[in-house]
Amino acid sequence: MRHLIDHFDLNQEELTNILDLADRIASNPAAYAHVADGKKLATLFYEPSTRTRLSFESAMQSLGGTTLGFAGAGLSSATKGETVADTARVVSCYADIIAMRHPKEGAPLRASMFSRVPVINAGDGGHSHPTQTLIDLMTIRQRKHRLDHLTVGFCGDLKFGRTVHSLVNSLVHYRGNQFYFISPEELRVPDYLIEDTLKPGNTPYQEVTSLEDTLPKLDVLYMTRVQKERFFNEEDYIRLKGIYTLTADKLKLASDDMPVLHPLPRVDEISMDVDQDSRAAYFDQVQNGVYIRMALIMALLHLPDPQTGKEVLPC
Ligand code: CP
Repeated sequence: MRHLIDHFDLNQEELTNILDLADRIASNPAAYAHVADGKKLATLFYEPSTRTRLSFESAMQSLGGTTLGFAGAGLSSATKGETVADTARVVSCYADIIAMRHPKEGAPLRASMFSRVPVINAGDGGHSHPTQTLIDLMTIRQRKHRLDHLTVGFCGDLKFGRTVHSLVNSLVHYRGNQFYFISPEELRVPDYLIEDTLKPGNTPYQEVTSLEDTLPKLDVLYMTRVQKERFFNEEDYIRLKGIYTLTADKLKLASDDMPVLHPLPRVDEISMDVDQDSRAAYFDQVQNGVYIRMALIMALLHLPDPQTGKEVLPC
């Protein structure tokens, strides 16, 4: 049995196989309509979500399966003190696969140790969001036709933005990638990302503060929201929240084929006048979320692709 807790759980070949399967699903979704007939997905969301939870449910239903779960710890027996370990044991009796979001880093890992069915991390605190990373990679590959030799700018809350941490950890494995980290001092990328991920592979990176100066140098821009829910101090959040806003005017500084990604939700870091620009790729990411999660459910449940007859992940 395999789980997806963070990027270490998939090697490069497996990751490419999942991206390829998601592409095949995107080009012919009807071919996959009964792949998971009779299977059940449980969504255990201890933290708010629109995209991740609903796209997991949409993905399972698009494969012919059904869903159950809760959307908020307050609606579960966590309010009575039930542990993540016990919840995972219990839900394993009800479902064939679990997607879990939790504010505590490591909670989905803990669940996977006690679950009898595969567990997918749907975001844990500021740590990791591996399914969003697969979506981001699929979208970059669609737009740039490669995942290597890219100059990628990450802008905004790079301290708490778990999608940034996960995506950097994946992109370092492709040759020739380099990064610009655009943030204020208070929201810099964590030191562990620099020490454990960037330095060991001599990956080129620069930490900068100006979005305008950096835009002309980028192949891909990844914007992020300042993560209100992870601040201890409301004043700090208010001071930092509007620090970067991408507008249609600023986008004139960027190359014509530089996609703008954002995991969403956005607050005010991308103005709505950018939405009409062909470089805006954030709603592509939303659509790709369904295909990636369909591919992951198939992979972890060892359901063969009806178009190739093959399973995507070895046991
Ligand atoms: N991108 C993302 O994780 O969105 P939600 O928080 O709405 O799930």
